[in-house]
Amino acid sequence: MIASDRHKQSYDDEAGDDPTDNVPEPAQAPQTDKQTDSMGDRDSARQGVAPAEGSGARLTSRSIRSFVIRNGRMTDAQTDAMTRLMPTLGIDFHSSDGAKPLQQSFDHPERPLWLEIGFGNGDALLGMAESNPQVNLVGVEVHAPGVGHALLGVESRGLENVRLVRHDALDVLEKLCATASLARVMLFFPDPWHKKRHHKRRIVRPDFLNAVAHALTPGGLLHCATDVTDYATWMHEHLAADNRFANTAAGCEDVVRPDWRPATRFERRGERLGHAVHDLLYRRC
Ligand SMILES: C[S@@+](CC[C@H](N)C(=O)[O-])C[C@H]1O[C@@H](n2cnc3c(N)ncnc32)[C@H](O)[C@@H]1O
Repeated sequence: MIASDRHKQSYDDEAGDDPTDNVPEPAQAPQTDKQTDSMGDRDSARQGVAPAEGSGARLTSRSIRSFVIRNGRMTDAQTDAMTRLMPTLGIDFHSSDGAKPLQQSFDHPERPLWLEIGFGNGDALLGMAESNPQVNLVGVEVHAPGVGHALLGVESRGLENVRLVRHDALDVLEKLCATASLARVMLFFPDPWHKKRHHKRRIVRPDFLNAVAHALTPGGLLHCATDVTDYATWMHEHLAADNRFANTAAGCEDVVRPDWRPATRFERRGERLGHAVHDLLYRRC
């Protein structure tokens, strides 16, 4: 299977046991253990440690994560892109150390800043960057082949308004985003973690909303989309319980999909399966 095909695998793979439910502390976790993750890849990186093609740094400081690190195979072009393009198009979480706000990574730091979380292979991110040249976009993703794929897209389309971070988005929101610095936060088709005992891994939860509320400018938008109705309800419930956010639609309702959101790979898959797609658009009060 080539690396890009791995993204076609999906939520179904979550149906297996959560490989990190009983993960021992890193020192006790043998590197040779094989685990199946939420996207169906098997890897040994259940400690949250970046695979060989990464920097070797940890991708999160959290014990409960919304993702499982996968060692998805990189194509030669993706590996090359990581080496060649990350120094200019990437933002290194660890060396940034919070001292350099995301905005300062762009040639035009005065422009509005949008952040996409879990961009997958980057289709939506690149589409939005192309359609909105007056906006700076940061994409955050932990899956290395997806980052490599997106880097190649940024290069081939000649985009100057995109930067990528390979790290846990919660850390990025908390540590690299200045207060009230983002005009938009976008979360498209996040892993739904179907099983009840896995719900704790859903990224939309109070600590995530705290981080988004801190980073969004007043009037800024949180745009979520999912093809899992139960997760849409979960998102609405969490957002309705947080008075820092107001639904731009009435009550706990979805909006009509805004023009600015390009279709994503996981959305297309959901549609093929007959799933309804939910767009949620909340404004930071
Ligand atoms: C189901 S995929 C959806 C990808 C893409 N948005 C799409 O619609 O095709 C969810 C993605 O979110 C990423 N992800 C999950 N939790 C994350 C986190 N805390 N920080 C960064 N990326 C995350 C996963 O690696 C995965 O690529």
